[in-house]
Order: sequence, then structure tokens, then C-alpha cells
Amino acid sequence: MGTAGTLIAVVFAVAGVLLYLQVKTIFEVPPLPKLEDTWWGPRAPSREDTAIKPFKINVSDQILKDLQQRLANALPFQAPLEGVKQNYGINTNLLKDIVEFWKTKYDWREREKYLNQYPQFTVSVQGLKLHYIHVKPVEAKGLKVLPLLLLHGWPGTVREFYEIISLLTTAQKGRDFVFEVIAPSLPGYGFSEAAVRPGLGAAQMAVVFKNFMKRLGFEKYYIQGGDWGGIIVHHMATLFPEKIIGVHSNMCFVNSPFTNLKLFLGSYYPSLVVSKEFEDKVYPLSQKYAHILLETGYMHLQATKPDTIGVALRDSPVGLAAYILEKFTTWTDPTWKDLEDGGLTKKFTITNLLDNVMIYWVTRSITTSMRLYSETFNKAQFGLQLERIPIEVPSGCARFLNELVYQPESLLKERFKNLVHSSDYDGGHFAAFEVPQVLAEDLFIFTEKVEILSKPDQ
Ligand SMILES: *[C@@H]1O[C@H](CO)[C@@H](O)[C@H](O)[C@H]1NC(C)=O
Repeated sequence: MGTAGTLIAVVFAVAGVLLYLQVKTIFEVPPLPKLEDTWWGPRAPSREDTAIKPFKINVSDQILKDLQQRLANALPFQAPLEGVKQNYGINTNLLKDIVEFWKTKYDWREREKYLNQYPQFTVSVQGLKLHYIHVKPVEAKGLKVLPLLLLHGWPGTVREFYEIISLLTTAQKGRDFVFEVIAPSLPGYGFSEAAVRPGLGAAQMAVVFKNFMKRLGFEKYYIQGGDWGGIIVHHMATLFPEKIIGVHSNMCFVNSPFTNLKLFLGSYYPSLVVSKEFEDKVYPLSQKYAHILLETGYMHLQATKPDTIGVALRDSPVGLAAYILEKFTTWTDPTWKDLEDGGLTKKFTITNLLDNVMIYWVTRSITTSMRLYSETFNKAQFGLQLERIPIEVPSGCARFLNELVYQPESLLKERFKNLVHSSDYDGGHFAAFEVPQVLAEDLFIFTEKVEILSKPDQ
């Protein structure tokens, strides 16, 4: 063989090895990482007070007076362009009406009573004082009581769960089980303390909530979440399968090289990926990606410079409301962008929406809430490759058709190896808040399946 021949042979050999490594990484499952019980709080570890303490929301008069002053002193809004509705962000004519309602009709002291209707507690875990709602079923005679951890996301709070909690903790006709609900505020959100040092991403929150449930005395339990809550419960199922009886989410997704390849091939043969009925939820990919790009500017910002935008939102209640409420229009229904009033009152009340905004405002937690993006979208967290490790515990996925990303079972099964239940519903991103009955019923159906499957005589 001549020099040229040798060279070609070497080039082919190298190319072959590279291709092999590439293909191998597509199919290879990364090892399960071991995460530390990091101390996130401001106090010294020796001073961890492990007691569970009752908690009531009771905002000071001073915070409320300051809010009224800021609302009264807000500069007049920039008028929207003619006819644009919500297409340049929230329409300030809509915002003006909301702020007027906030100033004159919204009564926080009344809402505080509403928010305090469920028993709430705090407990310190890894140095963070965490706030949570804990509701046991009223009437559970003869029923199996199943503990359920419910996790919210951004820009949500535990307020999203008030309607669904009563449904989940009420005995259902024909069902021999009922839930005991534990709904914490994520670290850095609402009434839970925030980390004082970098690194508390979604994976580390999974560790915090595993330890939190242990502290509450639960060895095995169900978990449910959407948005960040969904990401965290899936990490819990990946990292601590022995703790989880079943994991249910209204935001299931897979993100692996193989899935992306399949999605791409599906552009040519959609039936490989998705049934005819839901084809337009996945394809054409270019349209889907354009839509994702249009709706995720906030994510890039929060994943890179949360503290900068945080300064503005923390200082201005009208700015905070604009930033949060915009998400409740477009994420609930993208077509609401073309409505004068953003469609908000079709599914929510302004009072309920303001409860959620108020929890961010009175706790001054918008900046720390947004940091979850920076702490998760980074090299260290991506390096864990948690999303590529299959989830073996029984899983349920409720797909709401207005969710940003739609993934059919053919894709979900790459990650959810034990997908016992998945279904499609009308509705959007904030399912618990928007359609509590639908989400509760899906959770009951899923749990029924898991309970039957886990009976020893099956
Ligand atoms: C809230 O706190 C104030 C002053 O600290 C107190 O007088 C009031 O009784 C508290 N309200 C509730 C509902 O706990």
C-alpha cells in the first residue's frame, strides 16, 4: 500500500471510530450521579432546627401600605401599538384594568384568609426553611391514604393547587384510596427560603425534596408536578426510584440525541412518531421551533442574567404583574395573544391570578425564583445527563394540548420505561390551576392503575 493508500485507510479508520463513538453516545445510558446533601441555607449547619412548625401567612401592614403607594405612584403605561393585542407582550390597556382592580377591589386580608384555609408548616431541610401545605383527607374511613407530593413551577406558586387539593383529598365514589397532599413552595419561591450559594438547580432540588419527605416521615410516596415541578419529580424518580410509588406529570418530555433524530426523521414519515390526529402538534418542526423561540425569550434571560431583570421586577408591582400575567395568557392558550383581554378571565379570575402575583410580591421572591433557570441551564447540570437515564418507576403523563411541547408516547417511552398511563386533554400549561377537575381525575386514574399493578397477587 502506498502512502496515499495508508493515509486513506487511516482517515477511514479514524472516521469509523468517531462515528462509532457518536452512535454509542446516542444509545449509551449515562451513569446515575451521586448528589450531595449540600447545605444551602444562611445559618451554620450545627444550628439546623429540625422541628416542624405551624405556619400562617400574615403579611405586615407596612408591606401592604408600601404596595398601595407603589401602585398609586406607578407611571402611566406606554400605550400599546394600534391593534396589536398581546403580540408585543402584555397589552398595557389590559394591564391598566388589572391594576385598577388590584388597587380598588382586591382585598389581601380577605385573600390571606383564603390562603390560610389549609394547614401550613415550615421545616428546615439542608439549611433551608421550607414552607408547605399539608392536607389530610377529611373522611378516609376504610380507604387507603396515599401520600402525594405536589410541586409547582415558575411563575407559579402553591396558589395553583388550592382548587385541586380539595379534590384530591376528598373520597371518590368507587375508589378505595384517597390522597394526603403535601405541597411545598420551591426553595426561593414564596414563603420558602432561598439558597445563599450557587448550585441549587432542579437536580439538587430533587435531593432537597427527597430529604424533605423523609423529614416528614414518608418512606414511599406518589409525586406530581408541572413545569419545574415536573422536571424535579422526574429527577426524583430517576435518582430515588426506591422512594417513589408513582410519578405523574403534566409536563413530560424526553430530550436525547435518539429522540431528536427520531423527531427529525418524522418530518419525512410523521407516522413513525405521532398519530394522524396529533400530527399538527409536532410537525412541521420549523413552525414548532419558531413558536418555541417566540415564547422562550424569558428563559434565556433568566438562565443567564436573572439578577438584572430581578432588580426591576422586585421594585415594581406593576412590572411584576405584567411579567407574570403575560405567561398566564399565552401559555394557557397561544391564540389568546389575539384577544384584547388576553383571554385571562375565560379560565381564571383576576383575584386568583393576583393571589399568585402577590405571593411573589409580598415575599420579594421573584429574583430567587428566576435563579432556578441559571442553576439548571448550565454545564454542570447538563453534565449529569439525568434526562437520559430511563425512569423505571410507574409513570403517568397528562398531555395538555396547548403545552409548548407535545411529545407522543412513541417518544416518551424512550425515557419512561414504565409508562402506565398517558392521555390528551384540552388545556394549557397551568393545568392544576386552569382545569383542576381534569388533572385530579387523571391523577386518580393513573394511581388506580399503579395500585392494581403493585398488588402482590397480580
Ligand atoms: C398577624 O400579625 C399581627 C401583628 O403581628 C397580629 O396582631 C394578628 O393577630 C396576626 N393575624 C393573624 C391572622 O394571625
